[in-house]
Amino acid sequence: MSEHPDPKIERLRNLKTQARLGGGARRIEARHKKGKLTARERLDLLLDRGSFREIDAFVTHRATEFGMPEKRYLGDGVVTGWGTIEGRLVYVFSQDFTVMGGSLGEAHARKIIKIMDMALKNGAPVIGLNDSGGARIQEGVDSLGGYAEIFLRNTLASGVVPQISVIMGPAAGGAVYSPAITDFIFMVRGSSYMFVTGPQVVKAVTHEDVTFEDLGGADVHATKSGVAHVVHDSEAETLMAVRRLLSFLPQNNMEDPPLLETDDDPLRMEAALDSIVPDDPSKPYDIKEVIRLVVDNGDFYEIHEQFAPNIVVGFARLAGRTVGIIANQPAVLAGVLDINASEKAARFIRFCDAFNIPLLTFEDVPGFMPGTVQEYGGIIRSGAKLLYAYAEATVPKLTVVTRKAYGGAYDVMSSKHLRGDFNIAWPSAELAVMGPDGAVNIIFRRELAEADDPVARKAELVAEYREKFANPYIAAARGYLDDVIEPRETRPVLINALEMLQNKRDANPPKKHGNIPL
Ligand code: HXC
Repeated sequence: MSEHPDPKIERLRNLKTQARLGGGARRIEARHKKGKLTARERLDLLLDRGSFREIDAFVTHRATEFGMPEKRYLGDGVVTGWGTIEGRLVYVFSQDFTVMGGSLGEAHARKIIKIMDMALKNGAPVIGLNDSGGARIQEGVDSLGGYAEIFLRNTLASGVVPQISVIMGPAAGGAVYSPAITDFIFMVRGSSYMFVTGPQVVKAVTHEDVTFEDLGGADVHATKSGVAHVVHDSEAETLMAVRRLLSFLPQNNMEDPPLLETDDDPLRMEAALDSIVPDDPSKPYDIKEVIRLVVDNGDFYEIHEQFAPNIVVGFARLAGRTVGIIANQPAVLAGVLDINASEKAARFIRFCDAFNIPLLTFEDVPGFMPGTVQEYGGIIRSGAKLLYAYAEATVPKLTVVTRKAYGGAYDVMSSKHLRGDFNIAWPSAELAVMGPDGAVNIIFRRELAEADDPVARKAELVAEYREKFANPYIAAARGYLDDVIEPRETRPVLINALEMLQNKRDANPPKKHGNIPL
């Protein structure tokens, strides 16, 4: 930038240039050599061009120990402010690893806190780009206090404004808990990791040899722990995915999600759906195919794609309106509900309910997963979370039973009895306490034991049971299903119901908060 004749303005310009350099050109170069973007470059990719308005660029720490006065960088290792994504306001912070490893001290924390307070007051999402060595060791308890104040704000903002964490480097120790409270965690494959204690401590305590990647890399958290909701290969792709997620969400809990124009016909019939469920009830099919055939332009934004794939959750639109989809996946473990699937779906449902996003459930579930692993792991507690989440949700709730709705899982998956608003089934649906085989084994045990030809008798009884119970018409006769439709009609029927429910008002009894079985 050219020199300015007024020394005051010249000074300001110099300071701003200095602030933009963070920890200095040498460290920036080292970042680039590692294939990493700087804190500011990341914001440039995330936000609409030219929309970023920075604040607190002059903030510095006031620590005096351990040579800290010599390490005083403008901005104190985090870039904060606001900007827009597709024209809509968001608050952002982006940690700058070139300044003391992006470590969080008192001033750094205060900057993040200011942004979070503004987001809460003005009703817009907060997006945090995390890249930090954690608590700034030289600032001791001030750093810890800073984290705790951020955790508090994460908690108070939960359910009021969407909070998104993007992990773009290390997130170690207690620092992981701020992202963990936020609604969605994005990670970058190969360059971000999260853990409560690093590989060295793990080695000392449990004698395990484990790498950074195997302990807390993106794939580990996307597949095993479920900590990461969305994972991509590069920083740029990850930031684009954040932009896309926001397109489905309202700005805060007092708004409805944005209504987008679509060129996909709301009356579109989809003949392919008529034959998608195999005649043999033990044969799998891909529920994501069903979702894509029903929603606008086949556009489905999946959350937790690799975690508990026996249930599928994500966002899509019907005639331009956002819906949160929860679908049992018959192609994985027959779509059974286990601990991970229950928790994945429960958390997603609660997010949707908090942010006025209608729930659309596709149901094909043989029940809860049996066995000691699941029982000892607390499937009772986890299954109860899913039940609780569906029961307490007051947003419009639409359910399509495509095939099996057996046992407790029938009740759980947004049934009429849990205040489902519009529950329908395809003719292939089977609503029963259990599948024909298991049922016949129990209720006809004695008869089968005494039969001359038990195999033939069992086949007869199974056929009889299937004819009587394994269909949607008994539930429809009771009004537990509002209708049975041809699969091809699914899209227009759901769009019509969603429009019918657009002014739905429902509330839970006044209370401080419920006690979800955590
Ligand atoms: C102060 C830190 C720091 C920290 C890194 N730096 N972490 N300064 N406090 N926590 C500084 C380094 O001194 C170095 O400064 C610069 O950042 C870059 O660090 P390097 O080690 O050179 O980088 P790299 O090799 O990439 O390793 C990154 C790292 C490592 C893996 C993050 O730095 C590391 O292990 N740091 C400590 C992590 C940690 O244990 N944090 C506390 C976690 S507990 P110079 O001047 O050389 O550039 C925690 C509690 C939170 O956070 C509590 C909440 C309840």
